[in-house]
Order: sequence, then C-alpha cells, then structure tokens
Amino acid sequence: MKIRCEHIFPIVLAALTLTSVDISVGFATEATFKMYCAKCHGCVGRLARNLKGDTSNERAAALSKFLEDHNVDDPVARTTIVKYLVEQTVS
Ligand code: HEC
Repeated sequence: MKIRCEHIFPIVLAALTLTSVDISVGFATEATFKMYCAKCHGCVGRLARNLKGDTSNERAAALSKFLEDHNVDDPVARTTIVKYLVEQTVS
C-alpha cells in the first residue's frame, strides 16, 4: 500500500514549528533532512517507523551505520538526521 504523505507534511511541519520550544534546532534538523533525504523520502514519519531496533540507542546506532553508505557524506549532517529521525519514534 502506498501512503501519500506529501500533503500532510507541510501541515505537520507548521504544527511542529508553532509548538516547538526550541524552534531554531527544530528548524535546522528539519532543513537538514529536507536537503539530504526528502527528495526520495517524502514521508519522514514512515521512514522513522521502519527503523530497526528496540530502543532509541539501537535505532540510532543502526541508522547511523546505514547512513554511512546512504546519500549523506557529511558526518555532522548524518548525526543531525539520525537524531531527528530517532526523535520521531519517541512519543
Ligand atoms: C537518491 C534517493 C535517496 C536519497 C537521497 C535518500 N534515500 Fe534512503 N532510500 C532510498 C531507497 C531507494 C531506499 C530503499 C532501497 C534501499 O534500501 O537502498 C532507501 C532506504 C532507506 C532506509 C531503509 C528503509 C527501510 O525501511 O528499510 C532508510 C532508513 C533511509 N533510506 C534513510 C534515508 C535518510 C535518513 C536519507 C537522508 C540522509 C536518505 N535515506 C536519502 C533512496 C534515497
């Protein structure tokens, strides 16, 4: 099943921006994801839900390793994106 997220994405973004306590950090991580990943992965929530690992630490470790060879060469951007994606899995 293909879920269309493109239309939900800006609304979620706007809600996050409005409710976020630390707007600058939130914006930076969002922008980093958009710059490196969004052109192929339109739905950040779906990507986050598919992360492997039972705990946040396991998910972060697995994703970080995966991304070493997946479209993001900059280690700082990679760390930012890992943190951002793993945070989406914590409710
Ligand atoms: C050029 C297109 C492209 C870009 C850019 C890209 N990806 Fe991917 N990504 C894919 C494709 C295609 C797959 C599925 C095939 C595979 O595993 O390589 C995938 C798979 C994944 C998976 C595994 C998903 C799963 O459920 O198995 C993760 C996690 C992921 N990408 C994260 C990212 C992140 C984070 C970024 C930004 C740094 C990113 N990708 C950038 C195309 C892309």
